[in-house]
Amino acid sequence: MIRKISTSELRVGMYVHSLGRSWMDHPFVKSHFMVDTVQTIQKIASSGIREVVIDTLKGVDIQDVSLSDEVLISEPQGPNDRDKSSRLSVAEESTRAKALYREATSVIHNMMRDARLGKQVEVQSLDPLAERMVQSTIRSSHAFSGISRIKTKDEYTFMHCVSVAGLMTAFAVEIGLDEETIHQVAIGGMVHDIGKTLVPDKILNKPGKLDRDEFGVMRQHVDFSDQLLKEHTGLSQVARDVTLLHHERMDGSGYPHGLKDDQISLVGQMSAIVDVYDALTSVRVYKDAWEPAVTLKKLLEWCPDHFNPELVQKFIKCLGIYPVGSLVELDSGRVGIVMEQGANMLRPQLRIIYNTKQNGYVRVTELDLAKELVDKIKGVRSPSELGIDLANFL
Ligand SMILES: [Fe+2]
Repeated sequence: MIRKISTSELRVGMYVHSLGRSWMDHPFVKSHFMVDTVQTIQKIASSGIREVVIDTLKGVDIQDVSLSDEVLISEPQGPNDRDKSSRLSVAEESTRAKALYREATSVIHNMMRDARLGKQVEVQSLDPLAERMVQSTIRSSHAFSGISRIKTKDEYTFMHCVSVAGLMTAFAVEIGLDEETIHQVAIGGMVHDIGKTLVPDKILNKPGKLDRDEFGVMRQHVDFSDQLLKEHTGLSQVARDVTLLHHERMDGSGYPHGLKDDQISLVGQMSAIVDVYDALTSVRVYKDAWEPAVTLKKLLEWCPDHFNPELVQKFIKCLGIYPVGSLVELDSGRVGIVMEQGANMLRPQLRIIYNTKQNGYVRVTELDLAKELVDKIKGVRSPSELGIDLANFL
């Protein structure tokens, strides 16, 4: 049910159907989204919006919450204060991103299981997740992509779908795509490998190189995705392109159709880059994870045959010289995980976890290199080389 309420009645858990203004006139990427933080409510209020329209079928209704709850709306702020009011610390954003990542992985897992059982794939159910992913990316462009380095071998397929969605969202924001397209690339990323649910497990999880026949079956996952999603008439062309074009290559050597150059749409070309980046930086049953910086260099080497060089450059700009999730060593011997980029790509925010001079773990602390100029990054370190499991620290 659609209901107009005062902004002062808005609470976490409500689903905003409309802000009553053109998207050019408010600071949100979309006009419809789940309210998941008090800061979002304050951001709406500080934009001067006094009434909003909520959808009570997608979120809680006004009678479901107590309006005597804490006062949520602060006094209107100046434009320079808006971003501050909605901004969380790197640690808070990382914790939220981790929870969202796990939730999305579980949803995709269930969706793929249902698809395997022949049940209808309900892509609309992914809308709220996609919206939260987009909002997380807007608040902190890299929080979600950092978490995506953590994958368990058993759940790789589902986690890869969520990671591709997060990376595609950050990439789409970076190159300035419109709000609806950003939302749809997130949906496309989440379902892009749904056809793998119809690939036999012994091929999908084979701990070694696939032979020719097995690879032929694996390649069919794109057609399987097409079949599973065809029934779903509401799937946008953008989301469909992410799903059907992520294995096409610029020189025509990809599959399933061997499309070339501009036969592959922009989001199709983006999805090919993101899919390979995420697969290579992940641990698989048959290989260790590649370091993000090494992987970005490889992507450049594979241009222009496989990827659009301009887009790869933009993807590198999006992730930074030291992508979030990278492990770096400082001149002092401190070793930390890159948690967030700053204005200076050489001085990101770090979570210090180890010291090479002590050869051991240290108390976990957050360090903003942009503020501590006495130290600097010496180089990238591999987690396996130091025996570090990043999952324990993200
Ligand atoms: Fe795929």
